[in-house]
Amino acid sequence: MTARLLDGKKLAETLRADVKARVAAFVAERGRAPGLDVVLVGEDPASQVYTRNKEKASKEVGMNGRLHVLPADTSEAALLELVAKLDADDAVDGILVQLPLPKGTNEARILDAIDPAKDVDGFHPVNAGLLASGRDRALVPCTPRGCMKLLELAEIPLAGARAVVVGRSNIVGKPVAQLLLREHATVTVAHSRTKDLPAVCREADVLVAAVGRPEMIRGDWIKPGAVVIDVGINRVPAGEGKTKLVGDVAFEEAKERASAITPVPGGVGPMTIACLLENTLLAAIQRSRPRP
Ligand code: GUN
Repeated sequence: MTARLLDGKKLAETLRADVKARVAAFVAERGRAPGLDVVLVGEDPASQVYTRNKEKASKEVGMNGRLHVLPADTSEAALLELVAKLDADDAVDGILVQLPLPKGTNEARILDAIDPAKDVDGFHPVNAGLLASGRDRALVPCTPRGCMKLLELAEIPLAGARAVVVGRSNIVGKPVAQLLLREHATVTVAHSRTKDLPAVCREADVLVAAVGRPEMIRGDWIKPGAVVIDVGINRVPAGEGKTKLVGDVAFEEAKERASAITPVPGGVGPMTIACLLENTLLAAIQRSRPRP
């Protein structure tokens, strides 16, 4: 069997076009554009690319996208001061502080300072708590939302399905497990200390890989017919001094066993930004009052 490819690039384009139309309606109704403020601290090359892409994508759909670039030695106090300023600014609907922050910065303290109503990453404990307790007011983390939209595309019935999430991060593993649970899947969260990980993965009708280790999940770990969502984006050497991107799943092997699989690149990655735009619009709608 060769798996069907779940095309995140195409799905993300559709979602972005939809957000763009809804932003235009928002502007017409409320007389202002939704604002997304992205904060980058330091010079991590991957983060520089991600944050530039987020700013650019927000402008493309008609939002007020702003990128704040701060030096790596920015103090925690200065960063908290910027977050407080953005919290207080009524024109700002979404605040995103790019992770990882430079070593020595207390990430939790910074993320906790973001107004939960503007927390378009969905990382604030209030939003994580709302998601865990099944409330639909939560702003839900972008990558997990992207995974769920790709599963919708795969048209796999999630109710009663065995889902295995490999990885337990606050950014992906935990929230995606909550979202699968909300759809009535039977969810196992596996991680680096899980015993006999290949056997656990082989039970999965739906396998979500979010470990950040290049091609760790091999083809024979995949149950025949499973749907595989690969969240990993790992840069590895490709010979002659070049590099390439690979996922957490050994794609060429896995595609011979799975019924559907996301490619890397072009799977989950593009969905993250599209969902960030949707979250920003949602935050703007929830925050604004119609004009009198
Ligand atoms: N670093 C890697 N992924 C993310 C993300 O989704 N949000 C933020 N803020 N930082 C990240």
